[in-house]
Parts: sequence; C-alpha cells; structure tokens
Amino acid sequence: MTPNADIILSVDGLNVTYPGNVRALADTSVAFRKGQFTVLLGLSGAGKSTLLRSLNGLVKPTAGHVEAQGIGRLSSAALIRRHRRATAMVFQHHQLLHRKTALANVLTGRLAYHSTLRSLVPLPREDQELALHCLERVGLADKALSRVDQLSGGQQQRVGIARALAQKPRIILADEPVASLDPSTSERVLALLQRVCREDGITAIVSLHQLDYAQRFADRIIGLADAHVVFDAAPAALDRSQLARIYPDYAAPSQHSQSHAAPADASQRAPGLTLETAR
Ligand SMILES: Nc1ncnc2c1ncn2[C@@H]1O[C@H](COP(=O)(O)OP(=O)(O)O)[C@@H](O)[C@H]1O
Ligand SMILES: [Mg+2]
Repeated sequence: MTPNADIILSVDGLNVTYPGNVRALADTSVAFRKGQFTVLLGLSGAGKSTLLRSLNGLVKPTAGHVEAQGIGRLSSAALIRRHRRATAMVFQHHQLLHRKTALANVLTGRLAYHSTLRSLVPLPREDQELALHCLERVGLADKALSRVDQLSGGQQQRVGIARALAQKPRIILADEPVASLDPSTSERVLALLQRVCREDGITAIVSLHQLDYAQRFADRIIGLADAHVVFDAAPAALDRSQLARIYPDYAAPSQHSQSHAAPADASQRAPGLTLETAR
C-alpha cells in the first residue's frame, strides 16, 4: 500500500481568482483522507465556499488541480460528473424543494444515478426504499410524507442530510450546514452528520462559523484566512496564537493589558469564541 492510498481527494497548487481580480484561493495544496471529518474555519470571505465548490468542480481553478481517488484530475466534464455522483452537498439553506414531501426531496439524491428522462417517472422501488431508510437514519421516517415547508429548520437540514445519504456518497461537502439553526439544533444536526459519516466511512468536509463546534466535531481543522491555509491540524493544536492566524483581529491576551481582548470590530470576531474554547 502506498502512503497515499487513503487520500480520497486532494487539491494541488489550487488558485482561484474571480472576475474583477478577486483572489479567493492562493496556492492551496491539501489532501483529504478517507473517513476524516474536516472542518473549515475562517472569517467571511476567507475562501471556505470557494474551496468546497472547487472540490466538487463547481468552481474552475484558475491554476492547479483537484484530484479524486479512482478518478484522477477533474479535467473534463465527464470526470467531474463521475466525481459528483459520489460526492454529496449539504447547504446552509438546505436547497430543498419546499412544496414537495421529505421523501420526494430525499429521492432527488438518487437522480444522479438515472438519466434526465428517467427523472420524469417514479424512481424504482429500491430507490424509494433507500430514501425511506435514509429518512429513518436521520430520525424522520414519520415525516416522510410531510411537505418540507411544514418542517422546522433542523428537520429540513436533516432531510438535506438524508438526501445526501441517498446519493450513497463517499464524500460529503457541507457549506455552513448549521448557520441558520439555533445552537441546540446545530449541535444535534452536527452530531448526526458526524455519526452517519462515521457509520458509512464517508469523508466529510464541513465549513462552520462556530469554533466550539469545530473543536467538538472535527478530526481535523483547516483554517483559512485571506485565500490561504493558515492552520491545518487536529483541534487540540488550535491554541490562541494559531487562532489569531485564522481570525487576524483576534488578539492574544498576553499582548494586551486586558485579560481577554476582543477585536475592535465585533463583526470580525471569531463567532462563538469563548475563553474556554480558545485556550
Ligand atoms: N462568484 C464570485 N465572484 C466574485 N467574487 C467572489 C465570488 N464568490 C466569492 N467571491 C469572493 O471570493 C472571496 C472568497 O469568498 P468565499 O469563498 O465565498 O469565502 P467564504 O466562504 O469563506 O466566506 C471573497 O472575497 C468573495 O467576495
Ligand atoms: Mg461561504
């Protein structure tokens, strides 16, 4: 076995510059190991969504490349399609069909496996059973026939996770999946996401705003600041000085007369940052 045998996804020398010369990622090289739960942290605009979207071929690199195990470099539309079939997305705003049932939404996770024409008629029975099973796994079997717009935000995101699972992915990319949920719901949704990924050996790459959740749920934290990876290690290694690299306006207390100086601009403060979590 080569040392890289468990690298499922990697980016090498990735640069993304948007029109208007906005540099969103600069010379980024990261490899993701199979089954690892990685959390991306960083201020708004740091490049988290761009990295996640690059990992799914939704953003085209300005330079560098993305490589998926068993597929190779994502250098053609056909290869990107193959990669996406095994890579599910979970979004902040769920991206559900609000007037459809939970079950119908979860079934859309199966569509990647069928032709466009196939999607016009009911999917095979085994797909329906799989979708129901996925709803069971997120604790929503009893809501299968409820319209999604009648579910709570947390339930909607659980439908989003069930839809991702129905795709039978080997990778889940989640862009701020709990940003619109209250704290206790966020915790439950993240615990669920972590559990199903562990159970199925799914590699998860999840951007979060809350440092304490990152420290609780991540196997690995990647900190981004201003288009660069500035931290990449296990949560335990994220001490105050490292934190200040991810959140540049976060001031380490030893450099200030006050015991725990907050950034001058509260909007730039690391969300959810507390002394306990920032040891
Ligand atoms: N489609 C786009 N066109 C132009 N600039 C963009 C686009 N998407 C993101 N950006 C810019 O790229 C940078 C990184 O954004 P993003 O990846 O969304 O960061 P994050 O998810 O960490 O907030 C920001 O400066 C943002 O304004
Ligand atoms: Mg974002």
